Amino acid sequence: MRMVELIEKKRDGKMLTTEEIRYFIQGYTDGTIPDYQAAALLMAITLRGMDDRETGDMTLAMAYSGEVLDLQNVAPFVVDKHSTGGVGDKVSLVVAPIVAACGLPVGKMSGRGLGFSGGTLDKLESVPGYRTDLSVAEFKAQLAQTGIVLTGQSANLAPADGKLYALRDVTGTVPSMPLITSSIMSKKIAAGANAILLDVKVGSGAFMRTLESARALAEGMVRIGHTLERTVTALISDMNQPLGNAVGNILEVREAIDVLHGHGPQDFVDHCITVAAEMLCLGGRAETLEGGVSQVTEAITSGRAWEKFRQLISAQGGDVRYVDEPERFAQVPLVEPIPASQRAYLAEVRADEIGMAVVGLGGGREKKGDALDHRVGIVMHCKVGDLIEAGAPLFTIHAADAANRDEAVRRVLRALTFSPDPLEPLPLFYARIV
Ligand code: URA
Repeated sequence: MRMVELIEKKRDGKMLTTEEIRYFIQGYTDGTIPDYQAAALLMAITLRGMDDRETGDMTLAMAYSGEVLDLQNVAPFVVDKHSTGGVGDKVSLVVAPIVAACGLPVGKMSGRGLGFSGGTLDKLESVPGYRTDLSVAEFKAQLAQTGIVLTGQSANLAPADGKLYALRDVTGTVPSMPLITSSIMSKKIAAGANAILLDVKVGSGAFMRTLESARALAEGMVRIGHTLERTVTALISDMNQPLGNAVGNILEVREAIDVLHGHGPQDFVDHCITVAAEMLCLGGRAETLEGGVSQVTEAITSGRAWEKFRQLISAQGGDVRYVDEPERFAQVPLVEPIPASQRAYLAEVRADEIGMAVVGLGGGREKKGDALDHRVGIVMHCKVGDLIEAGAPLFTIHAADAANRDEAVRRVLRALTFSPDPLEPLPLFYARIV
């Protein structure tokens, strides 16, 4: 087989065979196919697309480019969740302990922040001592013992995705449905998931900006999941404003702790309850969503979800005193509420700009490998549709120095649009696809 022929075939809009896709993934992973040829094929795929059979082949080839976890002896049925990324999205921190407390094991490999969207690993590393680099053996042992793991992706899991994602990032080939689908689904399959809950975000703080594109991605991923004999449910959820109030690593961990104690912002609470209930349905622990919701509510009110979270922190080396007494977390010197200048309704939030304001404060990375300041961030005090009185706080900024604070305040104020007329609040979910 010759790589140039595969590139030409896709360039001309033809379909690649299963063998050709395997040849490409194997060759690129082992280094025999160079970046320039891989980049040319990725661009041809981005422009010409792939059908479901090709996308399924690509997903499997990527999943099997490294180790595929067999968790049968550890947990008979593992449900995973994946969010396509958003601002203030700390859902995994809450949902994983709830679901595990309901008796369904959750072994999850999460990612770091990407651009304006935060990452679960960065948030967890706010807790001093917490390890996100468990080996596969440690992952399995902890899953068997505690029923919950939240760690980073092992280097040998779907290595093709790691290489391809880095190449896509610098060749303008990230926004391709078949490439996103195979990237996400290959990692879930390699991590041993039997069932997958996909939280597909749509809006100004998401990679999918329109409901149409989010739906196409969600439907494509559900179809590929079914082809590969996995049970998959996709929720399309709103990301036209940050989820919950807090954006920033320690601030988000603290908000997650609030929710596990039965408090927290209502949109975030309701979102977590729905996602956790869907996961219980996928794992056969609940027959209906309502049944799932009552189990989830009970896990929170009884304190079992909170205990599971503590077990997780402790099992991965984190200092539990910080989550028990969150006031121990380091604080920035500058914590300032920013007031509204006039009485008006909040009409629109550019959530990506809020995410970028936090990156500018030092809470995310401008470039690969940047160190994070886990303390900084923004706490929003209003949601789209809220009437805000003049002088009432719009948001609170947590900054390490005045220059960064001023820049972030300007950025957040530019990201908010107000209206003199009342508006409907935003929905939490737009669609559920099975
Ligand atoms: N998240 C992924 O894991 N892969 C993509 O391609 C896009 C988002």
